[in-house]
Amino acid sequence: MLLGVNIDHVATVRNARGSIYPSPLEAALLAETHGADLITMHLREDRRHIKDDDVFAVKNAISTRLNLEMALTPEMLENALTVQPDDVCIVPEKRQELTTEGGLDVLSQQDTIAEFTHKLTAAGIRVSLFIDADERQIQASHDVGATVIELHTGSYADAYNQQERNRQLIRLEEAAIQASELGLVVNAGHGLNIHNVAPVARILSIKELNIGHALIAQAIFIGLPQAIEKMKQAIFRARSIPY
Ligand code: PXP
Repeated sequence: MLLGVNIDHVATVRNARGSIYPSPLEAALLAETHGADLITMHLREDRRHIKDDDVFAVKNAISTRLNLEMALTPEMLENALTVQPDDVCIVPEKRQELTTEGGLDVLSQQDTIAEFTHKLTAAGIRVSLFIDADERQIQASHDVGATVIELHTGSYADAYNQQERNRQLIRLEEAAIQASELGLVVNAGHGLNIHNVAPVARILSIKELNIGHALIAQAIFIGLPQAIEKMKQAIFRARSIPY
């Protein structure tokens, strides 16, 4: 299982003071050295954390993969075609939200998503759709030509009790199996942390986890290298693989 380290909140801290540090580029390089299999960043329409220059700087310097999260807008499509990340993950975006709430509604935007997917794929960029663990959204993702989905794990992470958490976990597992049977690569992410990652990491059909906020939060106390190493250990332990 691969770990994508999302560095958005390094930029959040930097932007809080309008300074030049901490640097998302430095974080990306450090993350790679300490076990990140890819670097994920979300260029939001309001540029509240990652800025355009960050994306270029990271893309040019890293030696793993860049997974660029972006909204379904013509501006972002242009950006992606210019930056040429390895992967684009299309996410829903609402201006007032604190973070990405809920998955992309592929069903109601099939034509636009198919067009974006076609253009990005033609440019050699792999397209992932960030969706809820919902049978119809998975089928629609396949129908529009995406090769990857990322399952939104927020409902699992935010579950108010164990029973609800188990229910959400079963939904994720069933969705991952359905998507793999359709030939989709299945990733997952959102709200995962060192305490709740293991049950998701045990779902063998899930190939990659994208984790941001919890890693950057833990890095404040123990440093980014150790935060990443602990996360990798937790993931590998869950899969019964030595790390
Ligand atoms: N995956 C996607 C598609 C996201 O939009 C985000 C949040 O930017 C994450 C994963 C990471 O979520 P978190 O920061 O809660 O780990």
